[in-house]
Amino acid sequence: MLFGLYPKESRKELFGRDDVIDYIKRQIHAGNWVVIAGQRMIGKTSVVKVVLNELASEGFRTMYVNLQGVDSLKTLLKIMVNEANRSSLFRDIDASVNLNIGPLGITIRKGARPMPTLLEFLLSIRRDTVIALDEVQDLASASPQLLKILGNAYSSNPRIRFILTGSYVA
Ligand SMILES: Nc1ncnc2c1ncn2[C@@H]1O[C@H](COP(=O)(O)OP(=O)(O)OP(=O)(O)O)[C@@H](O)[C@H]1O
Ligand SMILES: [Mg+2]
Repeated sequence: MLFGLYPKESRKELFGRDDVIDYIKRQIHAGNWVVIAGQRMIGKTSVVKVVLNELASEGFRTMYVNLQGVDSLKTLLKIMVNEANRSSLFRDIDASVNLNIGPLGITIRKGARPMPTLLEFLLSIRRDTVIALDEVQDLASASPQLLKILGNAYSSNPRIRFILTGSYVA
């Protein structure tokens, strides 16, 4: 279905995006973070999904999180922990203060505060991992702490890369 409404997941379904896909992948391989900004429906999510699929086959752990409607760090943390458990990313994570890591996956300790716990989660990732936060403007405007967490992760954990996607209305 060529003009389906869903974001595309493979390069051959996307027209005219080879250059941008290759550019983003080069940046990620070089250890850089990438921001993709653009109008609605221009293909941001599709580009991100294709990039993640290709990077996964090149040895990266990948995680896609859609932040649409996510208005707190607590919710983001829950989504990330669920995703980590689903994709077995948790096997690469060290036990820590706020997170329990058992044979079945990660659980958040009772009473753990979202900000230090999210940071701890990001800092404890030990393998090359790419996390895409789609529609990041929704949470970034609701929670300035998100930018602090990302800044800390950037300077403290070279194993982790983020691709941030945002929309603006033209
Ligand atoms: N280069 C392209 N080739 C083929 N289909 C495309 C291309 N770019 C976008 N599309 C199609 O257009 C629609 C919107 O794409 P997508 O959801 O990736 O865009 P978006 O920028 O993330 O949109 P939104 O702002 O709604 O999040 C999808 O159906 C997608 O398959
Ligand atoms: Mg999108």
